[in-house]
Amino acid sequence: MSTEPAISARQLRKSYGDRLVLDGIDLSVPQGTVFSLLGPNGAGKTTAVKILSTLVAADAGELRVAGHDLAVDAQAVRARIGVTGQFSAVDGLITGEENMLLMADLHHLPKREGRRVAAELLARFGLTDAAKKPASTYSGGMKRRLDIAMTLVGDPRIIFLDEPTTGLDPRARHTMWQIIRDLVTGGVTVFLTTQYLEEADELADRIAVLHEGRIVAEGSTEELKRLIPGGHIRLRFTDPAAYRSAAGALTEAVRNDELLALQLPSDGSQRELRSVLDQLDAEGIEADELTVHTPDLDDVFFALTDSSHQTDRTTEALR
Ligand SMILES: Nc1ncnc2c1ncn2[C@@H]1O[C@H](COP(=O)(O)OP(=O)(O)OP(=O)(O)O)[C@@H](O)[C@H]1O
Ligand SMILES: [Mg+2]
Repeated sequence: MSTEPAISARQLRKSYGDRLVLDGIDLSVPQGTVFSLLGPNGAGKTTAVKILSTLVAADAGELRVAGHDLAVDAQAVRARIGVTGQFSAVDGLITGEENMLLMADLHHLPKREGRRVAAELLARFGLTDAAKKPASTYSGGMKRRLDIAMTLVGDPRIIFLDEPTTGLDPRARHTMWQIIRDLVTGGVTVFLTTQYLEEADELADRIAVLHEGRIVAEGSTEELKRLIPGGHIRLRFTDPAAYRSAAGALTEAVRNDELLALQLPSDGSQRELRSVLDQLDAEGIEADELTVHTPDLDDVFFALTDSSHQTDRTTEALR
C-alpha cells in the first residue's frame, strides 16, 4: 500500500479578482486520518475544499489527491472522492430515496445495484422510515445525514465535508461525529472544515488554522494548545503546615498565603502533572484540591486569528 498522503498541497494560491484568498498554503493529509481546516468566516475554507475537490481551479500550486495530480488528471481524482458542500445538495422536492437514486445514476450504477446501495445507506443513516417522504420535510439533521449518505454512494476513499454540523443541535452533532468516526474506522480519509473548535478537538488528527490567506498554525490539538500560555496546575490546602511544606518543595510555585493555594505554570501534560505529584508524594504531602487548567482550542483560535491580541510567546512559538 502506498504511503503517499491522501491529499497534499504545496504553495496553493487563489485569488478572486484582486482579493487574495489563499496565499500559498501547504498541507498534507495522511491516508485514513481526519484533517480539520479551521478559520473564521471568509478565511477561505470553502475555497480550499472546492479547489481540492476539483470544483474550482487554483491559480497556482502543486496539488495531489488520491495519488493523482489535480492539474493533470482531475477526472481520476473526481472518481475517488466525495464532497459534501457547506450548503445542502439535497433536492427538497423529491424524496430522500429519490435523491439517493439520482446519485446512483450519476455514478452509473446499474439500477438494481443502485437500489441496494441506496437502501443500505438510508438504513445506515437512520433514514429508512423517512425514505419515501419529500426531503423538504426533513429536519436539518436528517438533511445533513442524507447529504453525507449521497456523498457515499460512489464509495469514495476520501471525503470532503464542508461544515457538516453547522446549525445542528447537540444530539444531531454527536450523531454526525459518530458517522465520521465510523467512516475513518473504515479507512476513509476525511477533510473537514468547521467553525466549531470542539468538533476539531473531537475528530481531527491534525488541525490547521487558516487566517488571512495563510495557515497560521498546524498540529494536533495538544500541540496547538501548547502554543498558548496560561496553562497551570493549582493546588489548595486546608492545613497551613501542609501548605508550607508544599510551598517549600515546589519552589517554582506562585504562592497565595491567604488562600493556602499554589499555582504552577504547566503545559497540562501528563508528564508535568506526574512530576508535581511525585514531588508532593516524596514529601508526604497531600493537597486537598488539585485542578489543571489547560487552555482550550477557543483560546488558541482567538489568539491566532486576532493579530492584535497575539501574545509574544504565541508569536515566538509560531516562528
Ligand atoms: N466565487 C467567488 N467569487 C468571488 N469571491 C469569492 C468567491 N467565492 C469566495 N469568494 C471570497 O473568498 C473569500 C473566502 O471565501 P470562502 O467561502 O472560501 O470562506 P470560508 O472560510 O468558507 O467562510 P465561511 O466560514 O463563511 O463559510 C471570501 O472573501 C469570499 O467573499
Ligand atoms: Mg465556507
